[in-house]
Amino acid sequence: MDHQVVIIGGGPSGLLLSQFLNRSGISTIILERSSRDHVLSRIRAGVLEWGSVEMLREAGVSARLDAEGIPHDGTLITDGDREIHIDFKALTGKQVMVYGQTEVTQDLYQAQDAMGTTIVHGVEDVVIDDLDAAEARVSYTRDGARHTLTCAYVAGCDGFHGVSRKTIPEARRREFERVYPFGWLGILSRTPPVNDELIYANSEHGFALASMRNPNLVRYYVQVPLSDRPEDWSDDRFWTEFKRRIPADAAARLVTGPSIEKSIAPLRSFVSEPLRWGRMFLVGDAAHIVPPTGAKGLNLAVSDVHYLHEALVKALKQGDDSGIDDYSARALDRIWKAMRFSWQMTMMLHRFDDEDGFAAQMRRATLAHLASSEAAQRDLAENYVGLPF
Ligand code: APR
Ligand code: PHB
Repeated sequence: MDHQVVIIGGGPSGLLLSQFLNRSGISTIILERSSRDHVLSRIRAGVLEWGSVEMLREAGVSARLDAEGIPHDGTLITDGDREIHIDFKALTGKQVMVYGQTEVTQDLYQAQDAMGTTIVHGVEDVVIDDLDAAEARVSYTRDGARHTLTCAYVAGCDGFHGVSRKTIPEARRREFERVYPFGWLGILSRTPPVNDELIYANSEHGFALASMRNPNLVRYYVQVPLSDRPEDWSDDRFWTEFKRRIPADAAARLVTGPSIEKSIAPLRSFVSEPLRWGRMFLVGDAAHIVPPTGAKGLNLAVSDVHYLHEALVKALKQGDDSGIDDYSARALDRIWKAMRFSWQMTMMLHRFDDEDGFAAQMRRATLAHLASSEAAQRDLAENYVGLPF
């Protein structure tokens, strides 16, 4: 056998799984379609649950996270000028850490380099075979030559558009999906954050989010129609719209500046079951997508890695298959709870174009209840800081 585990995809899921397995003495190889620069150019969300922070510490990749991450004790949820402060620390005893996913990925590449793990970039036409045989086989093309690897297990960490999920016969897969009729236009700008905590803003003009990367770099978003393109949004237009959606006191102190990146992402909820097919396991975006409203995407990938790493160590080191038999059910239990939370946050905070007056009233009543009920705030806080693994 060439490797114990072949990992398809060198995003955060594949890198973190490999890092954990290597530290447990299990050999891996990572096959990634894109270049490292391309993987590291993707700007993704920036909030880590405390459980994710602890996982990154355990993986030995937290030096920069601990030095540069910004712990947050709470967040602001606003409805027009009404401000609802959700105090995570007081309500749950926990915090979250603001640290960009791109930085996490970079730290993981560095750690994997130090481990000496082989990461093959530029692979094409990956085919996964023999998942019900004694050894699985993964073939790919690189620089025009075809290669084949044998392994005990395959980890499908290749994101929503990857091949791993599609290796499971369609008739044996169950897919659940909700596509939302809007996207998020995000900008990066070298300006100081408008608030020391994130602001999730509902307004009559639609949703806006004020996030940050560091004391002089912000990530701000506005909800836009799916038909919009980034070119439709000059910086001026963005700032005008953003100001209309956040509370007046925040708008008054907002510092604007040129954007250094601008992109639009659609919002989707998606789950594919099961997560195991013979010798292959799906991890992260390969199996599930959440809308970014709950900041759960990367955090769910981390909890999948937690379950799968434990399961593979048991199987490969102790010959005990109970963990791999349970992986799909265990991971899905937590995934569905995060799906629900992300969906609920999305419904609570966005304006739907074709909505009727009733839907708008439900959103306002949900926010009014959140403003006045500590139980509702604790429920939100408990989910936002992350349910236990
Ligand atoms: N062969 C090899 N690699 C592939 C293939 C393929 N056929 N298809 C996709 N990939 C690679 C992609 O190029 C990408 O680098 O798999 C990687 C998947 O990475 P992500 O999409 O980042 O998914 P994942 O690692 O599960 O990360 C979890 O959390 O916040 C969310 O969506 C966000 O990326 C984030 C995710
Ligand atoms: C981000 O910083 O990009 C971010 C933060 C919180 C979210 C989504 C995105 O819910």
